[in-house]
Order: sequence, then C-alpha cells, then structure tokens
Amino acid sequence: MSLNSSVRSAKNSKKLDSVPYPISLSSVPSYPAIKEPFDTLPNFINRDNRSELTKRSLTHWFKPPYPRQPQPKLSQGIDSSYGTSHCHPNILSLIGNTPLVKLRNIVPNPNVTVYAKMESHNPAGSVKDRPALNMILQARQRKILNPQTTLIEPTSGNTGVGLALVASVLGYPLELVMPENATSERSKIMKAFGAKVTLTPATHEMEGAIDYAHEKVNRLSNQYVMLNQFANPDNYLAHYLSTAPEIWYQSHNSITHFVSAMGTTGTIMGVSKFFNKHQLDVEIIGVSPTEGSSIPGIRRWPKAYLPKIFNETAVDKTCDVSIMQATTMARRLALEEGIFCGTSAGGAAHIAIEIASKIESGVIVFIVCDRGDRYLSTDLFTY
Ligand SMILES: Cc1ncc(COP(=O)(O)O)c(C=O)c1O
Repeated sequence: MSLNSSVRSAKNSKKLDSVPYPISLSSVPSYPAIKEPFDTLPNFINRDNRSELTKRSLTHWFKPPYPRQPQPKLSQGIDSSYGTSHCHPNILSLIGNTPLVKLRNIVPNPNVTVYAKMESHNPAGSVKDRPALNMILQARQRKILNPQTTLIEPTSGNTGVGLALVASVLGYPLELVMPENATSERSKIMKAFGAKVTLTPATHEMEGAIDYAHEKVNRLSNQYVMLNQFANPDNYLAHYLSTAPEIWYQSHNSITHFVSAMGTTGTIMGVSKFFNKHQLDVEIIGVSPTEGSSIPGIRRWPKAYLPKIFNETAVDKTCDVSIMQATTMARRLALEEGIFCGTSAGGAAHIAIEIASKIESGVIVFIVCDRGDRYLSTDLFTY
C-alpha cells in the first residue's frame, strides 16, 4: 500500500468537492460530446414514449434521483415519507444510482468501514446493466445500429441479461452466445426479454462463445453487429461516468480502497480511470479466481484473450480468490449481513475483509455484481 489510509483519506478530502455530477461526456478525454442519443428510435416505440425519450440527453440516464418534492399531508397517519421514489419514464432510467450499504457484522477491524456497492439493485439485476445501456446508446448514436441489424454478443450471462433488457425497451433483435454451463436462470431471463440464446460447448469455456460470435459477425457482417464488451470503451466509460462518481459522493469522499472482481474488467477500468483522472489516491484492487477455480462472471484470462480494454497499470494489486473462499463469503453475506449476492461478489467481499484486517484504518468499497437468486440452480446456497 502506497500510503497510510488515514493520510490518503485526508488528502483526498481536499479534492474533487467540485467534480460535477453527472459527469458530462465532454469531460471524458477524447470522447465526443453527445447531445441527442434518441434521434433514430425504432418505429414501434410509440409517439408518446418517443417524445419523452427524445427530450433527454445521455447524461439523463445516470442522473441521481431528483430532489424530493415537498408533498402535502394527506390525512392523519399518512405522511409525506410515503412514495419517496418518483415516477420513471421507463425502466431504463432505473439503471445506476445503486446504494452503498455498510457491513455491520463481519468486518474484523473497528477502524475500517466496508461498504457494499449494490449493483444487484439495477433493474436487470447486475453491474452489467450500466455498460449494456451505454454500449447500445453509443452504437445507436454512431448510427451503427438500425432495427434491421441483429446485435450479437458473447457473454457469460449478466451482460446478456442487461443487453436483453435494453434491447427489449429500444427494440433491437439480439442474439446472445454463452457456454452451456452458464446458469439456466440467466438464459431463461434473456429469453423472457425476447433475446435468442445460443449455447456453445462448456468445454470451450468463454473463449468458445467469443470465437463463435466473431465468426458469425465476420461471415454475415451486413446482418450482425457485435458490441464486443471486451474491447468496447463504452463498457468502461459507463463506470467512469456513473459508478465511480457515485461511489465517491456516496462515501462522502472518504473511500481509500476499491475492490472489484474482474471479468471484462470494465468496472475496474472505468472506476480506476475516474480516480486517476481526478488524482484521487484510492487503491484499486482487482480480484480474479485462483488457478483451477471457476467463478461465474470472472476469469483468469490467458494472455491471448485478455480483454482489450484492460490496462494493467490501472490496477494497483490483483488478489486471487478460491471458489471455496468466494462461496463461503457469499453465504456469510446472506446469513450475517442480509446481502444475497452471487459468487463473484463473495470473492470481492472476501478480499475486502482480508484488506480490512491488515490496514490500520480506511474505507473500503467492494462491488456486489449480482443477486443470489441468479445462482439458485447451483450449489451456492445449498447447505
Ligand atoms: C457475476 C459477475 N461478476 C463480475 C463481473 C465482472 O465485471 P466486469 O466485466 O466489469 O469486469 C461480471 C461480468 O460480467 C459478472 O457477470
């Protein structure tokens, strides 16, 4: 660790009080400012929705909730604390603004605060809703998409579910390719949103799904468009634009350590880029499975398949977690903290707790990537 945590915290508290939120796209280095992402809506979005959507710029999607309006007292016993969440123009505007939840029972060091960033609260249930929305909006803005093209994406699950949600609202045909050992809950959810699901042999792992999708796009390039979450900057920019500033403000500028399990590495790259850009001294810790451990959603990538968006220097430290450690911690989170999450979140929490026991003081935020009910067909909660 480069700095004592309390020094780091004090140093950071002087900075970034004035970073605007939401971050405008024009503040992202070499990224074109986007004024109107809804200029070419598919036809079947009806006129009312269209006029509602066209009013809004991209930053709308990642805005924090509107300030609460004062509400009149209705009658005795019913006060204005009812109905504090507001009406949304559509389900997509519920993406982002997930809460931070403080762990109460499993943190071994009283001088360290550990927060869970509840990405499981996104409407399709995972951290991948953010890049799914951003990648589709940006592709549409660049006129890569039209209602005749089919989106195709290799995904171990959560990105597919997020894309299926967004594609269903915006009206794009979608084919998702994943290894046949991905949990059945995910493919059922994707199909419920109207996506086509293609399964590749489990023995070929995620690489097999990636190869299949690339081959199809190369062969039928006029019919298929791949967003390619592994190489698409709009994946990590979603986190740069939303996840990272949310964490910064929600932790009251106090975060000293950020822990995230790594799949496409979009989450960790985007969050790291934000802290780096604003010169905030936050230690960035990536979590990957130990050799031989299979943890859904994250990988120990062979060099040839390392995601193109990954930049080794953006991560201060990588920690390995075994499937046993990740499973045990996911169960403890449910039993002791009431947080029902998936295995990769258990892995990130395991590392967060390990760090908490080693440092003098600090504020650690880890990502809860998805919900536990996505794993009910596995052994995760069978005990
Ligand atoms: C369950 C789960 N955990 C962690 C991750 C990692 O997120 P990222 O792709 O941003 O690295 C994913 C990604 O799909 C996931 O599905």
